[in-house]
Amino acid sequence: MPNAGMGNIYPDGSTGNCSACHTRHRFSIVEARKPAACASCHLGPDHPNIEIFNNSKHGHIYNTEGDSWKWDAAPDAWEPGDYRGPTCTTCHMSGIGELMTTHNVTERLYWNLWAKDSQVRNSNNVMSPLLGNGPEGRKKMKLVCKSCHMELHTDNFFKQGDKAVRLYNEAYYKPAKAMLDELKSKDLLKDNPWIDEFQITFYYLWHHQGRRARQGAMMGAPDYAHWHGFFELQQDLYKLEEIYKKRIESGTIE
Ligand code: HEC
Ligand code: HEC
Ligand code: HEC
Ligand code: HEC
Repeated sequence: MPNAGMGNIYPDGSTGNCSACHTRHRFSIVEARKPAACASCHLGPDHPNIEIFNNSKHGHIYNTEGDSWKWDAAPDAWEPGDYRGPTCTTCHMSGIGELMTTHNVTERLYWNLWAKDSQVRNSNNVMSPLLGNGPEGRKKMKLVCKSCHMELHTDNFFKQGDKAVRLYNEAYYKPAKAMLDELKSKDLLKDNPWIDEFQITFYYLWHHQGRRARQGAMMGAPDYAHWHGFFELQQDLYKLEEIYKKRIESGTIE
């Protein structure tokens, strides 16, 4: 096959490429379970998942003592005790407690945190941005946490995380989108979005800072939720309001 793309649909109808996480010759389960298996793609300004993990309490524990954990237990036999803290795969893929190992990384998700505004997942269609079953996903993710944490700790974490997602939706995305729609209807957007300060800022609002705020809040990295997230969202919103006012008042694009 021509490349190692994650979500590619190949001419024979197969999807993805196993060597994105496994190496071709060893196919080592140890390699696949380490955060490095995910880091080649899940990094950077628009989905800094490896940075978020490294700066969470869990990443701190992994980076301190992960070398001494047992990594080669068979699927569904890898349990707390073999390790003290979760890695990406513990939460998103591995069997733990009564949960079975899965290769479907969507299975334990509630929201779609990559989208412009986050909605609860509720679709079987692989092409839908809402692929997955949110309530079922949340139940499964909570089972992961409950293997190590008290129920109250887990419930409180998700209450707080869900509030952060709703705050992004309501206080940042919604007003930004309303301004975008009005400027569009009044022909006050440039044709090329990439030389239009309003449209560039709108893109960064959801695609970069908005994801950092939501994913940082949901994976326990306060600095990503706040400084790389909500603080910059506030800056974006002020900037959008300035440009919006100028264009509406003058009826022209500056
Ligand atoms: C997103 C990363 C990822 C991709 C892509 C992926 N795997 Fe895995 N795979 C894992 C992880 C993580 C485990 C270990 C899960 C666990 O902890 O039980 C695993 C475990 C396995 C195991 C068990 C290995 C053992 O030693 O018992 C097999 C077999 C396997 N994967 C096959 C595949 C095949 C075939 C593909 C492609 C169709 C594939 N995987 C694609 C991450 C991935
Ligand atoms: C080769 C690149 C690559 C690697 C390696 C990779 N991913 Fe991904 N992952 C992607 C892409 C691309 C998407 C987005 C697919 C889409 O558009 O919905 C994604 C999406 C996801 C999602 C969200 C799924 C959804 O329904 O929105 C999760 C969770 C995830 N990956 C976890 C992992 C974990 C855990 C690992 C490591 C074991 C991993 N990924 C390794 C490229 C990768
Ligand atoms: C402690 C468990 C935990 C760990 C460790 C963890 N995640 Fe997550 N991850 C979550 C939770 C919880 C969510 C939000 C799920 C929800 O409610 O939708 C999430 C969300 C995500 C998303 C966003 C999916 C979307 O809807 O857009 C991606 C991508 C992702 N994680 C990848 C990773 C990668 C890569 C790592 C390791 C570098 C990692 N996660 C480590 C629990 C974890
Ligand atoms: C393999 C065990 C394990 C799993 C699974 C696990 N955690 Fe943790 N978690 C820990 C450990 C250990 C600590 C550090 C506790 C300490 O301070 O001694 C921790 C710390 C935390 C903290 C920081 C808490 C604080 O009070 O400082 C949060 C938040 C957290 N976990 C949330 C979660 C969530 C949410 C999940 C599930 C998505 C989860 N954890 C899954 C082991 C785990």
